[in-house]
Amino acid sequence: MSVFSPSPLSTFVEESQAIGVFDSGVGGLTAVRKLVNMLPNERVIYLGDTARVPYGNKTAATVSTYSQECVQFLLQRKVKLVIVACNTASALALESVQQISSVPVVGVIAPAAETALKQTRSGNIGIIGTRATVQSAAYQTKIKHLCASEGIEREVRVFAEACPLFVPFAEEGWHYHPATRLVAEEYLAPLKKAQIDTLILGCTHYPMLTDVIQDVLPNVQLINSGEEAVSVADAILHEMSIHAAQRGMNRIVECYVTDKSTAFMSVAERFLGFPLGIAEEVRLGK
Ligand code: DGL
Repeated sequence: MSVFSPSPLSTFVEESQAIGVFDSGVGGLTAVRKLVNMLPNERVIYLGDTARVPYGNKTAATVSTYSQECVQFLLQRKVKLVIVACNTASALALESVQQISSVPVVGVIAPAAETALKQTRSGNIGIIGTRATVQSAAYQTKIKHLCASEGIEREVRVFAEACPLFVPFAEEGWHYHPATRLVAEEYLAPLKKAQIDTLILGCTHYPMLTDVIQDVLPNVQLINSGEEAVSVADAILHEMSIHAAQRGMNRIVECYVTDKSTAFMSVAERFLGFPLGIAEEVRLGK
């Protein structure tokens, strides 16, 4: 089955062009970590909209405007594909950014929803994300559509919880802190009660808290939405025959942010898992 439907604006792209990735802040770097490990020959351009983070408590109209500006920035840098490594932007703005893009745009919702449906045994799937992602019901809607289109007849139940405090805890580096554990127990209690067997980490910050989440939900399979999007991006590059040829450009991430705080580099490198080099501050929009 084809993973990619070309946009009406499609332009010719070459394998040497970079892959563009954006997020509201540093969270998307957890997807970039997977990207550089999986596709080490690719050049990656990352944009973190750090001046306007968080997106998770903003309206759909605002998130759409911000996301379009992020995509336009990446298109100006001639990327061959865009990964929206932000669940909130994927939930609220994917269609609007696909409409303005001349290259394929991959969000995180559909890839993670598909994997969750494949992996669940009990049919009880949990989703955690920002308030905006949960309220949008984007995951719930996608899972329902997939069940219908793939003729899945068994019952699938979806339970979603917003976990807004996970974002600052992840950025603070409190991955194993007792306060994080306490908050995780509180947020995840309804999902434990619902006896989910699969949990979508529906926010690109949350993989930083994998250990504590897994500790609270020991027998639950965790799905990293950013990693799933990277796998779909890989499939699209294959289908379009635009994978970068081997050139040993391992771990080159060109990073741009809309606000470079003093803490940015250290937080970013923790999310990325290796040194970033430099990050340049840029202005988006008019
Ligand atoms: N990285 C964002 C996401 O995946 C969460 C942070 C935010 O609220 O902007 O939804």
